[in-house]
Amino acid sequence: MNELTIVIPSGRLKSECVKLLGICAHIDKNSSRKLVWKVGNYKIIQAKPVDVPIYVEKGIADVGLVGKDILMENEYNVYELFDCDIGNCHLAIAQSERKKINVIASKYVNITKEYCVNNNINAEVIKLNGSVELAPILGLADAILDIVSTGNTLKANDLKEVVKVADVSVRLIANISSYQLKRNSITNLISSLKENQDVKAI
Ligand code: PRP
Repeated sequence: MNELTIVIPSGRLKSECVKLLGICAHIDKNSSRKLVWKVGNYKIIQAKPVDVPIYVEKGIADVGLVGKDILMENEYNVYELFDCDIGNCHLAIAQSERKKINVIASKYVNITKEYCVNNNINAEVIKLNGSVELAPILGLADAILDIVSTGNTLKANDLKEVVKVADVSVRLIANISSYQLKRNSITNLISSLKENQDVKAI
C-alpha cells in the first residue's frame, strides 16, 4: 500500500486527531517539539492549524485534518472529503451589550466581511490574532466574530453570543493529485476514521 503523508494540527485539536487516526501509542501528545513521525504506512506531520491546508494544496502532505473555520476563511485548491465530527464548535458574533455594530474584530476577517455584507452591516473589520474578546471590553470594537466552544471565554469576559454564524468541526482534506494517485489508501484511511469514530461513540 502507498505511504500516506498526513498533516495534523498542533494545539488543542492534536490529541483528538491522534485518537481518531488510531496512532495514540506512537505520538507524544504533550510534546509540540517533534514535528514529523513515521507510523506504519503513515508519515505524520504536525503544523500550525492555519497552515494545514497549504501543506495539502502544495502536495507536501496527501491529506490533512483541519477545522472548517480555516477552510471557510481562505480558499484552497483541495478536496474536502469527510467530516470527522471532532473539534465541534461554532463561529458566533458576540457583544457585551446589544448595540449597532460600527466596528467588529476577528481573526477571521474574510468570514466577518462576508457576514457583514450578507446582513447589511456596514462596519469596519479589524483583524486581531488572538484574545479577540479584549476588543469589546476595551472599546476597540462593538462586536467580535469568534469561535465558541464551551462558551467559558465569553462568560469570563462578560460577553454574550448574539448570532450563531456557522458550525465548525474537523474535516479531512486531500491533495487533488494524491486523491487520484492514492485513492485506495485514502479510502482505507476514511474507513479507519469511521471505525475510530464508532469506537468513540460507544
Ligand atoms: C479560542 C477562541 C475563543 C476560545 C473559545 O481561542 O478564539 O477565545 O477558544 O473557547 P471556549 O468557548 O471553550 O471558551 P484560543 O484558545 O484558540 O486562543 P486565542 O484567543 O489566542 O485564539
